[in-house]
Formats: sequence, C-alpha cells, structure tokens
Amino acid sequence: MISFPKDFLWGSATSAYQIEGAWQKAGKGPSIWDAFCQVPGRVANNEHGERACDHYHRIREDVALMKQMGLKAYRFSIAWPRILPDGTTKKINEAGLQFYSDLIDELIAQDIEPWVTLYHWDLPLALQVEEDGWLRKSIADRFADYARVCFDRFGDRVKNWITINEAWVIAILGYGQGVFAPGRVSNAEPYLVGHHLLLAHARAVEVYRKEFQAEQGGRIGITNNCDWREPATDNPADHEAAQRALEFFLGWFADPLYFGHYPQCMVDRLGDRLPQFSPEESELVKGSSDFFGLNHYTTTLASDEPGRVVPGEAHNNAGIAEDQGVRLHLDPSWTTTEMDWAIVPWGCRKLLEWISERYDQPDIYITENGGAFPDQLVDGRVDDQDRLGYLKTYLAACREAIDNGVKLRGYFVWSLMDNFEWAAGYDKRFGIHYVDFETLERIPKASALWYGEMVKNEGSFTV
Ligand code: GAL
Repeated sequence: MISFPKDFLWGSATSAYQIEGAWQKAGKGPSIWDAFCQVPGRVANNEHGERACDHYHRIREDVALMKQMGLKAYRFSIAWPRILPDGTTKKINEAGLQFYSDLIDELIAQDIEPWVTLYHWDLPLALQVEEDGWLRKSIADRFADYARVCFDRFGDRVKNWITINEAWVIAILGYGQGVFAPGRVSNAEPYLVGHHLLLAHARAVEVYRKEFQAEQGGRIGITNNCDWREPATDNPADHEAAQRALEFFLGWFADPLYFGHYPQCMVDRLGDRLPQFSPEESELVKGSSDFFGLNHYTTTLASDEPGRVVPGEAHNNAGIAEDQGVRLHLDPSWTTTEMDWAIVPWGCRKLLEWISERYDQPDIYITENGGAFPDQLVDGRVDDQDRLGYLKTYLAACREAIDNGVKLRGYFVWSLMDNFEWAAGYDKRFGIHYVDFETLERIPKASALWYGEMVKNEGSFTV
C-alpha cells in the first residue's frame, strides 16, 4: 500500500488552445497556433484547435467531471489573445475576461483550487507578425502588461499562478526545430528566445509581487519541463554527458531562477549565442519562483559524443544536440507510450532528487505527468490499463522521492481529457477522460475512475 501526505495536492491539467475551441468567438484575436495550423503539413492530418473539445461552451460539464473525481485543484491556461486580441492592452476584451471569470467561479463553487498558467504557447499573432514574438526583449513588457490584467481581474480568487509553461519547448521546438508554432528553424534563436522568456517571467513576477501579492496573498512560479538523462554506461564521460544534458535542458531555465546565471557548461559551449543577464536582470530573475513547477514524462540514456563544438558558431539545426555533445537513445528493453516516450518511473524519482539537491529542496509541484496510449472505446468504456499502470508506477516513484527528502507537494495528471496534442493532432490521446471528437461526449476511462478513488482515499493505493 502506498500513501501520500494528507495535504498533498491532487489535480489535473489542460491548456487553452488544446481544449477551448471557439477560436474566433467573442472578440478573441488569432494566436500563433491558429496560424500555424493553417499551414498545410504542419499538424498531423492538418488538424487544428478551432473546435477542439469545445470546452469554451462546456465549463459546467467539465468542472463537474473534476468534482466527480474529487480533484482538489485544476490547472488550466488563459489564452492571451482571448483577453488582449492584439496582445497589447490597447484593447481589453471583456467577453474573454468573463469566460475565465466564470470558469474560476465555477471551480471555486465546487471547491477546486484554480491553478492558472498565463502562457501555454498561444501567443497573440499580432505580436509575432508585428514584433517578432519572443525574439525581441520588449516582449517581456508586453507579457508583464498582460499578466497585470490577469492579476487585477482574477487575483482575488486565483492564488496559484504559473507564468510560462515549458520555456524549453517554446525555444527548441518553436524556434529551433520549427515543429511547433511559430515554426522557425535556427541554431541561435532558441537561446535568445529562452532569455526573453526568463525575463518575461521575471517581469510578471515583479508586477505580482509589487502590486498584488501582499494584498491577494497568492504565490507565483514557472513550470519547466525535463526528461531524466541516465548515463548509458559507468564510463565517467557518459556520466558527465548525462549531467550536461540535464543542465542544457532544465538548468538552462532553473539555474537563473535559483542562482541568477546560466549553467557554466552552456556558457562554455555556446559562446556568443547565449545572451548574458545584466546585473539588474540577474537580480530580477534570481528568486523569482515561489515554487518549482515540473512537467515530466520520460527518460533517455545519454552517451558522450564529443562532436564538433565551436563556441559561437551557428551551424545548422542539428547543432542543437551537438551543442551538448550528447547522444540520446533508449534502452531497447524499455516499453514506450504512443509518443514513443519510454516509460521509466525511476527516472522520475531520480529527476526529483536531482532538482531537490541542485536547488536546495524547493517545494516542487509536478504540474504535468501522464501518457498517450492506444485507447479503445468498447461498449461505452475505455479500459486503459496501460495508462493506469503508468500513473501508478510514476506515483510510486514520486512517493519514494518524498521518502528520500524531496519536498513534492502536488501532482497534476496530464490531462483531464483527450485534446489537441499540438503537431500530433487528435490521434494521440493523453486524457483520463475519453473525448468522442464527433459528439464531444466525455467518458471517464478506467484511469479517471481509479484516480478519483485514489484522491478520495487521500492518496492511498496499491500498485
Ligand atoms: C507538454 C505540454 C502539454 C501536453 C504534453 C503532452 O509538453 O505542456 O501541452 O501537450 O506535453 O505532450
């Protein structure tokens, strides 16, 4: 029998573009994902989030799903262009604010704590087209202005804020590999974008702390994502490679928050491609997260691969992996999810311990964890034993991490329901609720029924 502390926070998570739909409704402006999906071939089957799960029209029903499971918290994101159609405060869209206000009220009425992410990748298109998106430093001020509107309108009821979801994905997949919006391919832009994401986060936190936090009494942080990197052999070079890979992945965004600067291995290897913080910026960024938000899904092996490392040289996109001098690969004995992500629960424990040690035991919230599996709807039921196994074994690994001193305070399963899985479209199902994308009916999978029972039993279960 495994059990979690009584005050452990159990939740589930979604994001705006993946579930809301209503892409042009009630004054919402277009986002970079609305545009990206229009480009043929960018998303599987040329799918898009125009309707998605139609959550925009179903907030009561969807909050009822959470209530049914006894969830204590729900993590969702606000679509920036639903509130500020061109990204700036020139025009504030009251209808957009009303939508989120209603959602927040409904959650609170059902005793579910709202955890609000301000940016989960759907940048107002106008800011991309007119101001180069995350490539310009001025985006930090735009983001702070947007954040201020949200704190001002929702901060009386929202006590948990996450500024940015997965800076690594925005930088690498959006500006390095070009597989996510805005679709740019570069070996240098990701590091500039990453820098501006950190500054934007820190500026929003500054606004919150100076203007709202004392009165509203909430907390604010950022959510970063990271896989575990396991040394492929006992060879010291592979150990160093795994450590380097973790620093390039998570250290890139977490070291500045805790130490005020980037990991030294990035400075050494990237030369001029890695921007520097001025002393004032470093001060602003350091200490700017009240908790450690972590999204974690998988593990790979890491082998040292010296490659061609020339500081400052901007080679082609393959160079992003080359920058680290690491080859990533899987142990053939590992099973994988539908995303081909390896299922390695102990990697989750090791990552939690790595974070705890490196950053001096911060309060950690796993703000996403889960898996895509080939769900089958049979006689009105989805018996997703594979997802159930994933969740149980990852949670057991979390429990071990807690036993080993990690201050893990909460866990949000990704995702409340099947949704638009970015470039993979609707084929990859991550939900604990099955969504029939024709009728939009939501059906609890076996994993949702189990998760709800587990939450009602205050985090007790058998593996
Ligand atoms: C995360 C992302 C989520 C979800 C999940 C599964 O990177 O924040 O939006 O898509 O991965 O791929």
